[in-house]
Amino acid sequence: MENLHQLLLERHSIRRYKDQPVSADDVRTILEAALLAPSSKSARPWQFVVVEDKATLTSLAGCKQFGAKPISSAAFAVVVTVDTTVSDVYVEDASVAATLMHLQAADLGIGSCWIQIRNRFAADGESSETVVREILDIPEQFSVECIVTFGYIDEERKPVDPSKLLWEKVHIGRW
Ligand SMILES: Cc1cc2nc3c(=O)[nH]c(=O)nc-3n(C[C@H](O)[C@H](O)[C@H](O)COP(=O)(O)O)c2cc1C
Repeated sequence: MENLHQLLLERHSIRRYKDQPVSADDVRTILEAALLAPSSKSARPWQFVVVEDKATLTSLAGCKQFGAKPISSAAFAVVVTVDTTVSDVYVEDASVAATLMHLQAADLGIGSCWIQIRNRFAADGESSETVVREILDIPEQFSVECIVTFGYIDEERKPVDPSKLLWEKVHIGRW
């Protein structure tokens, strides 16, 4: 897409994917977007785990009670982890990287969805972070922020109508 604003109007969280792999070039471009993310003091505290294996995706989908279903049908997912010993604003650093992957995917015509992991729980009460950490052998000092799922779009979403934007949330000059 040539126009970022148009991309933002058309972007949606996509949770239904075609049963079709994403090309290695597109996977690489999405990861490049993550590695290009700005971070506080340029610490780049994130590390990403790319998961394509169906059985692993299915186990990851059980990491929380609600809202993790898209993981099981994704062509691949990127688990966004961040070193809590390197940055004091690691949540923000990880969030920027996840957002850039989401936007890069949209630009490539690939659907994606942010699946929240930090502060979420599995059906048995276990923390989602612990479940994901154990499945993927993620070291303790890395916080698992979210999993971003990717795949070719298998649902219809309409672009946002700009007249519906919440301009009342914008204050000019002072609150
Ligand atoms: C911090 C954050 C956490 C989210 N967690 C989930 C999630 O766990 N599962 C899910 O299906 N969608 C999740 N989403 C996607 C939101 O539900 C989605 O962005 C919102 O409903 C607006 O829809 P849109 O992205 O299509 O505009 C999350 C989004 C953000 C930014």
